[in-house]
Amino acid sequence: MMKLIIINGPNLNLLGKREIDIYGNQNFETFFQSLKNDFAQVDLTYFQSNSEGGIIDKIHEVGFSYDGIIINAAAYSHTSVAIADALAAVTTGAVEVHISYVHKRESFRHHRYLTTNCIGMITGLGLFGYRAAINYFQEKH
Ligand code: DQA
Repeated sequence: MMKLIIINGPNLNLLGKREIDIYGNQNFETFFQSLKNDFAQVDLTYFQSNSEGGIIDKIHEVGFSYDGIIINAAAYSHTSVAIADALAAVTTGAVEVHISYVHKRESFRHHRYLTTNCIGMITGLGLFGYRAAINYFQEKH
C-alpha cells in the first residue's frame, strides 16, 4: 500500500475558523476524513505542527520510508531554510501545497524556500490541492 503523509504547518489547525474568506470554512480533520474515504487504497497519515522543529522531526521520521510527502508549511514556507534543508536531506519526494494563491497575495508570500526542494507546487486551488497532490503520487507510483 502506498504510504503518503500530509504535513501542515502553523495556524492550519485553525482551518474552518481562520480567515474563512481566504482559507474556506472547512476544518482539516473533516476534510482529511473525506480524503481517507476517497483514497481507501492509500495509507494516508496527517500531521500538523505549529513549530518548525516539529515539522523537521516529522520529515526526518517519514522521509526515508514513505512514498510521498504533501507539505503545506504555511508561513514557514516563506521563512524556513531549515525545513527546506530537511526536504533536501530525505529521499522521499515532496509536493508543496498552498490553499490560497500565494502569488496573488502580499509580496512576502511570493518567495518560498521550500519550493526548489519539492517536486512541484500547487497553489490557489483550495483544499482540492491536497487531493491533486495525492493523485499525482498515485499516477507516479
Ligand atoms: C498558506 C499560505 C501562506 O502564505 C500562509 O502563511 C498560510 C497558508 C496557504 O495554504 O495558502 O498560513 O500556506
